[in-house]
Amino acid sequence: MTWLITGGAGYIGSHVVREMAVREAVVVLDDLSTGRPERLPQDVPLVVGSVLDGELLDRVLAEHAVTGIVHLAGKKQVAESVERPLYYYRENVDGLRVLLEAAAAAGVRRFLFSSSASVYGMPDVDLVTEETPCRPLSPYGETKLAGEWMVAAAGKACGMATASLRYFNVAGAASEELGDDGVFNLVPMVFERLTGDEAPRVFGADYPTPDGTCIRDYIHVADVASAHVETARRLVQDPAARLVLNVGTGRGASVTEMIDVILEVTGRTGVAPVIEARRPGDPARVVASVDAIRRELDWSARHDVRAMAESAWAGWCLKHGQPVST
Ligand code: WQD
Repeated sequence: MTWLITGGAGYIGSHVVREMAVREAVVVLDDLSTGRPERLPQDVPLVVGSVLDGELLDRVLAEHAVTGIVHLAGKKQVAESVERPLYYYRENVDGLRVLLEAAAAAGVRRFLFSSSASVYGMPDVDLVTEETPCRPLSPYGETKLAGEWMVAAAGKACGMATASLRYFNVAGAASEELGDDGVFNLVPMVFERLTGDEAPRVFGADYPTPDGTCIRDYIHVADVASAHVETARRLVQDPAARLVLNVGTGRGASVTEMIDVILEVTGRTGVAPVIEARRPGDPARVVASVDAIRRELDWSARHDVRAMAESAWAGWCLKHGQPVST
């Protein structure tokens, strides 16, 4: 097998590349809009370009004799998607359509799509299963749900084994140079406040949860990467696979619990977070049921929130040129 990994120079993509390249031939396509070539192992070829470029895709799939695709390229900021919905539809939906057309024309028979827990919107269940109704609250979530439909329909029509992996809240780094460059999620946002000598912010402490703050299922990016390896293996074994799976830990952590762990890891236990207003559109609780992925792939997450916070902090310190303090 030779796998094309789109978005392979990004935060999650580079972790997937690192894991998959251990056993398989891998080629990366990335437009480097947020990805960095230094994230890639030296022996992995990088093609710089967009999934919207059908001619480039035809060439890459033929030249590298690609037999499977892992598609992670895409835009992933919820707030930006509200401001620029058509940009998100172009990049995430049109981009996927062009890629699927090229894949079908080249006879690619395995396709793994990077989806998101944002397809669920505001679920009112303790554990979200893959059967929980999908009601995305943002254009970003809509593009992921439309993507899942397109992948399944094209797979069925073209005889392609397919999988959509719904990531929950991804954090951490497998090594410090692979840390998340973005400051759009809780963990890096808390680091940014702390390194600026400001108190971390809690967006709402009046939710119907035990400590009043929102609960999420935080998953280590190294676990997300290992889930891709297992899914890819399954797609090879089962040419008729049509998987849609949550990728989480099955355990929830509140914002307060996460901030406490981060304060410990960064050696700032005296700092008191400030409570601010709720952020519009935040569900009180989103935690994965992991029964399906355990059953289908015999996979489960290994890392806890402390490992996520520690590794994310090491990555943050490297990027910002400061020694790792604890
Ligand atoms: C987590 C919790 C915030 C910062 C989003 C997408 C989702 C997925 C991951 C890609 C919330 C609270 C945050 C801060 C806070 N992305 N918070 N203080 O919103 O659960 O999920 O990113 O696929 O699709 O929707 O993640 O990390 O932004 O927030 O209190 O300084 O932390 O309100 O409750 P979210 P997040």
